[in-house]
Amino acid sequence: MQKTNNKPPEEERYRDEAEFFDREAAELIEPGRSLKFANQLDYEQYFSLYRTYDIVKHFFGSVKDRKVLDYACGSGWVSIYFARSGAECYGFDISPKSVEVANKMAAANGLGERCHFRVCSAENLDFPDNTFDFIFGNAALHHTDLNKSPAEIARVLKPGGKAGFIDDLRYHPAMWLYRKITTDKHTRYEKPMVQGDIKHFLPYFSSVRFEAYDFLNLLPKWGLLSSILRPVDTALLKALPFMKHFYRHLIVKLVK
Ligand SMILES: C[S@@+](CC[C@H](N)C(=O)[O-])C[C@H]1O[C@@H](n2cnc3c(N)ncnc32)[C@H](O)[C@@H]1O
Repeated sequence: MQKTNNKPPEEERYRDEAEFFDREAAELIEPGRSLKFANQLDYEQYFSLYRTYDIVKHFFGSVKDRKVLDYACGSGWVSIYFARSGAECYGFDISPKSVEVANKMAAANGLGERCHFRVCSAENLDFPDNTFDFIFGNAALHHTDLNKSPAEIARVLKPGGKAGFIDDLRYHPAMWLYRKITTDKHTRYEKPMVQGDIKHFLPYFSSVRFEAYDFLNLLPKWGLLSSILRPVDTALLKALPFMKHFYRHLIVKLVK
């Protein structure tokens, strides 16, 4: 008798993700909405505002005249900041509408020449080997198939190139509960990361770091409350290392 395979075929997963994010992207180009940014910040300035982004900025350093891949780019908003700091940006996403928005957003901000977006999957990147100096992905990895995506990240990174990802960890108690009661805000196939996912990356990179951030502090920006809670989170993790499973954010730092 033929074995039944419960795993969804890739096409179904891609269709599901694309439909979900196409709907979100369509809202961004409703009549009357502008894709032009209200601020004039560049990557250094914008990333300095938010703790998790600031950590990635310190990991990357300058992106001027470097090739940056905006990984599962969505509307491509982060490429605007990279491009303003002189990067040559490429982005990809499985959602065609998101890619359409990303190209329009780049044009609306006068950066069409520096930003190039295309539809493709994280598991089969449509870029040559050794292309990028940096790869950045926000809330992206946990939408991909980790049995396949890390090898593709390594393939398209230049030797010595760096990839930085900000993602969600699965077992932060408040976020775990939030996801349980807001299933319509999440796709069927997304799977917030766990610390054990590091095993998928280790074979492909010279350096792999999984860093957990934010347990009590859930405020993304620097501020008075967060300046009190962050040292507490740091001390807690130092005292009880197993707590890394229950923190909110995972920052993945990879060097090829
Ligand atoms: C939570 S959104 C994040 C988008 C963007 N990085 C941001 O910060 O706004 C996740 C994105 O992953 C894309 N995505 C999901 N599965 C994908 C896959 N297998 N390959 C490429 N993109 C994928 C979705 O279309 C969506 O745009």
